[in-house]
Amino acid sequence: MEPSQARALLLSQHDRLRQLFNEIQHVADRVLAGEGVAAELQEVLARLRVAFAEHNTSEEALLEPILRLDYAWGPPRIERMLEEHAAEHASFRLSMAGPDLEVAARMAELIEDIDAHMAAEERTFLSPGVLRDDCVLIDDGD
Ligand SMILES: [Fe+2]
Ligand SMILES: [Fe+2]
Repeated sequence: MEPSQARALLLSQHDRLRQLFNEIQHVADRVLAGEGVAAELQEVLARLRVAFAEHNTSEEALLEPILRLDYAWGPPRIERMLEEHAAEHASFRLSMAGPDLEVAARMAELIEDIDAHMAAEERTFLSPGVLRDDCVLIDDGD
């Protein structure tokens, strides 16, 4: 896959995650207001779990071979991405544990953290300057 295609796919997954964050915050606010929508919260969180896991898997699979072509910046960028994903995974699991009211109360902070991670990626290794088609040749086995 060309770097620009990988970038477009990963950015579309970021957009999808941000849409889910809006839905989740809306449902979490209703849970916190005592509206008894626990089933809705669990349903939207289940969708977030799947989308989040899919995104991190795609990001690592697509970006590792592209970033590795940059001998100077590639290895530290890859290492940082993997470390941040591992840390995110751990805080994600912790945020989802426990009673619905507690989970709902943690959503604003979790969303802020993941959104900050995505914004940082968009400024760094998902930027058009890094994922350029013109300076790298990708051998994807085709
Ligand atoms: Fe990421
Ligand atoms: Fe990402």
